[in-house]
Amino acid sequence: MKKHILFLAVAMAVPILLLALKPAVPSKPATEQYIIIAWNDLGMHCANLDFSNMCILPPYNNQIAQVILKGSQTNLPAIMPASSGIYVTYEIPGNTESASKTNFWNYSQHIFGVVLSPNIGLTGFGLTGTMMQSDTINYHHVEGIPVTAFPDAAPTVSTPYQLTLMKAYSATNQLLATTQSVIPISHEINCVSSGCHSSELNILNAHESVPGFNIANKPILCATCHSDNALGMPGQAGVPPFSQVIHQKHGNKTNDCYKCHPGPNTQCFRDIMHTGGMTCQNCHGSVSNVGNTIASGRKPWLEEPSCGATACHGSNFAEQPGKLFRQSKGHGGLFCSACHSSPHSILPTTQPNDNVQNIALQGFAGTLSNCSVCHGYTPAGPGPHGFNPLGIKPVTSNIPAKSEILQNYPNPASFMTSIPYNIASAGLVKLVVVNLKGEQVAILMNNPLQPGEYKAEFYTTRFPAGTYICKLNVNGSYDSRKIVVIK
Ligand code: HEC
Ligand code: HEC
Ligand code: HEC
Ligand code: HEC
Ligand code: HEC
Repeated sequence: MKKHILFLAVAMAVPILLLALKPAVPSKPATEQYIIIAWNDLGMHCANLDFSNMCILPPYNNQIAQVILKGSQTNLPAIMPASSGIYVTYEIPGNTESASKTNFWNYSQHIFGVVLSPNIGLTGFGLTGTMMQSDTINYHHVEGIPVTAFPDAAPTVSTPYQLTLMKAYSATNQLLATTQSVIPISHEINCVSSGCHSSELNILNAHESVPGFNIANKPILCATCHSDNALGMPGQAGVPPFSQVIHQKHGNKTNDCYKCHPGPNTQCFRDIMHTGGMTCQNCHGSVSNVGNTIASGRKPWLEEPSCGATACHGSNFAEQPGKLFRQSKGHGGLFCSACHSSPHSILPTTQPNDNVQNIALQGFAGTLSNCSVCHGYTPAGPGPHGFNPLGIKPVTSNIPAKSEILQNYPNPASFMTSIPYNIASAGLVKLVVVNLKGEQVAILMNNPLQPGEYKAEFYTTRFPAGTYICKLNVNGSYDSRKIVVIK
């Protein structure tokens, strides 16, 4: 317990230290052993700009990052934990202040009951700072960056897809790696600009008959009465959630999500599924449906569509049970977003800035699929979703007479063992490892293959020492071989 408290104290001291040390840091990493991958939790954050009448959402943006020590043929890559002392700073080059761009700070005390210094957001973070990390998680995060869509140089030009600059430092303040990721922000809350309402005051006037509603008390925070999970506000008992009333009330007037969501200019849904022709309604249903599902029990913001739905990508590409995409981790403890980016900006997207990070990491836009970015080489072992780029290519051009597993090497194995195997006739090849209780511990290959000589890799570090059986099944012909794992 004592150690824990000490740790927190150290973590809080870092930002202060950092200020003192800033001028001394080099601009290029001293080593190329590390990479940092960063993303936004949602594909878009929306905020009001003028808070004099009402507040739907305050300026509040979030970023997440994972720092990875690159692997090699003899070491798996590792996501760096808090105990490594590595810390990550964030900034938004060209956007250093918000207080002249929105009147949020004039009203933050009235709306949220807190006095905030200019440019400091509701959680105490500013436009630059050090991300949080604790010893129970293996990622860095910052919540509540009060950024606006207006860069310093063009304070009237809406720029929803600005880039952050993230820098990872060692415990001894050596620069380890940098990256850039989009911090999406839009002020297109279009109640008036859509041509639907004549003014915000008009919207408030329509609420006058509601008990307890006092227009003289403006600016009005809708979430004081209507619960809102986006702000973590419980609302008032008996008043329906904000998302429910807003979608139910407007569902018979429009089915155009961009009337309110950002928006005609921002086009927040810009990802590979947008390119493929999908619309908001394909995943969320109609405007009325968004509201009605809340009336029948859906928790707004917390229960959303999922990639793994049977009608969509299915169980091999699913979120973790009971978790949203933004909360789920996949391959090697990486967040889904580390390789795919955020919801509604699944890579590649139509916004060039979304693609910057992966072009820098792997040389091309799209899913982070180049294994060597993290592994330092391309393993012939199954990667994300069982994807096995080397394993599906024969290692020689010989056509073997028999489907069989050959002697693995090294055996016994303490880190990784290569398992050569032959496929005599084309078919679905299943190569798995089971323990002596017969429980399957790894799937090494589950793909249709042509006849040829192949190699799989079995990484053993996660498994207790002992004897395991590797089993091959192709077109109903079986083979198996013993593998010994030592520590
Ligand atoms: C003082 C509490 C309070 C505040 C603040 C408040 N509302 Fe409401 N609102 C209510 C109540 C109560 C209802 C009626 C709910 C019902 O029909 O059961 C309601 C209903 C609504 C409806 C549905 C109206 C209809 O005709 O069906 C909408 C839309 C709505 N509110 C939007 C807003 C917006 C936008 C804000 C912020 C600008 C806001 N509310 C602020 C209490 C409040
Ligand atoms: C391909 C399916 C898909 C489409 C198309 C889609 N969404 Fe989503 N939406 C999702 C998923 C999945 C989530 C939950 C993501 C998460 O937070 O992990 C989500 C969540 C949301 C949220 C809650 C915030 C968040 O990101 O969790 C909003 C708001 C939203 N969507 C609005 C829209 C709008 C508006 C459109 C069209 C402009 C749209 N969505 C198009 C799949 C989709
Ligand atoms: C009349 C304006 C309006 C329209 C039209 C609209 N939305 Fe929304 N939507 C909102 C507002 C405002 C919020 C944010 C409420 C909050 O702060 O919680 C929201 C939040 C959401 C959320 C997150 C909360 C939840 O219920 O899970 C989703 C998802 C969503 N909208 C989907 C859609 C989709 C999809 C469409 C089009 C089919 C759409 N909305 C059309 C105003 C609208
Ligand atoms: C280490 C990187 C990585 C991680 C982490 C990762 N994926 Fe993937 N994902 C891939 C690669 C590589 C592909 C293959 C194809 C491509 O898009 O290039 C893929 C493909 C997909 C597809 C498309 C499948 C299809 O039908 O074409 C979905 C959906 C998906 N992943 C969902 C997820 C989800 C959900 C998570 C988190 C639980 C996740 N991924 C984690 C790398 C990753
Ligand atoms: C974004 C970084 C990243 C990318 C890209 C990536 N990996 Fe990994 N991989 C990891 C991490 C982190 C681990 C976990 C190491 C551990 O468990 O200690 C891992 C573990 C593995 C393992 C060991 C699996 C096990 O069961 O322990 C294999 C095999 C593997 N990756 C193959 C691949 C292949 C093949 C690709 C490319 C298609 C790939 N990886 C792409 C980061 C990555």
